[in-house]
Amino acid sequence: MLNGKLVRLPGLADVHVHLRVPGGEHKEDFFSGTAAALAGGFTTILGMPNTQPPLVTYAAWHKAQQQANLQSLCDVHLYAGASPEHLESLPDLGRDAVGLKIYMDQTYGPLRITGLSTLLSCFQRWPHHKPIALHAEGRSVAVGIGLAAAFNRPVHFCHISRKAEIELIAQAKEQGLPVTCEVTPHHLFLSDADIPRLGTLGDMRPTLASKQDVDALWAHINTTVDCIATDHAPHTLEEKLGPDSPPGVPGLETALPLMLTAVAEGRLTLERLVALMAHNPRRIFNLPHQEQTWVDVDLGHKHTLTNAGLYTKCGWSPFSGMKVTGEIRWVQFRGHTVFKNGRILANLC
Ligand code: DOR
Ligand code: ZN
Ligand code: ZN
Repeated sequence: MLNGKLVRLPGLADVHVHLRVPGGEHKEDFFSGTAAALAGGFTTILGMPNTQPPLVTYAAWHKAQQQANLQSLCDVHLYAGASPEHLESLPDLGRDAVGLKIYMDQTYGPLRITGLSTLLSCFQRWPHHKPIALHAEGRSVAVGIGLAAAFNRPVHFCHISRKAEIELIAQAKEQGLPVTCEVTPHHLFLSDADIPRLGTLGDMRPTLASKQDVDALWAHINTTVDCIATDHAPHTLEEKLGPDSPPGVPGLETALPLMLTAVAEGRLTLERLVALMAHNPRRIFNLPHQEQTWVDVDLGHKHTLTNAGLYTKCGWSPFSGMKVTGEIRWVQFRGHTVFKNGRILANLC
């Protein structure tokens, strides 16, 4: 506690971010995406491989990771993607990438693993100690739990959004299976009742769920849920409002104020928030400690989220207009002040 309502948190880690490099730089790039991360209190982010081309070969992954290292304002670790055409790349990727992302269900971009034999090959080829993250919806969650059990290895479930899914994961954990999961702020603070208001700005995968599903996620926030991850998936307003609107919403700059609001409302403690947004992500993905890195927040500051002043290149938020309690005041990254009172102060070194 610094004084009054100012509190110091560790640098947050978001294990699910789309940075759009290569191929989608008009939506986001490493510089804009990591500026948005710092403005949101995240000092480590994990980037998804569904880029164009996707990060499914060692050469593609390595080139993107090198570019990330040069152009980012905070730490960025990129996932490798699983593709049926490049299974032979997995052992090399498994040496250096932070984790393997397997898309079991349809979403933005072409990456998808459908057949059981291909899934099996991914699990056989990926190093046992390195995380595997699944985009699994509905019954695919049960398949993922089966794989975690059969291979006796950790499996992380991305953006769990449905009551049956979180209950199944709770059951698997009760049996001692090595599974973990993340939930997004949009699945906690929005529901299908918001779709008429938001239109395509409320479209993402998994889609917004029923109030019953949202209630179930909150009911497991202090137990089954391991991480809050944003699934920050920027697309331009023009793309979102045009024909063939792509699924996905940005979230890096709104996640912490929203979760602090839940703390103010007594839905979880600040200690639990820090576990969900810093300690658990770092433990599950073996992320390096960052020295002299912290986030000062004002727990009492009430304000309304707005599109104005966002650092994400897409420039909009599905949460615009929502009232929150809690504001990020100061972010310190490896001894340097990188964000203060609404402004990014970081430089590329
Ligand atoms: O809505 C989504 N958008 N869900 C995903 O899984 C991918 C993401 C994207 O890349 O835009
Ligand atoms: Zn996904
Ligand atoms: Zn995603």
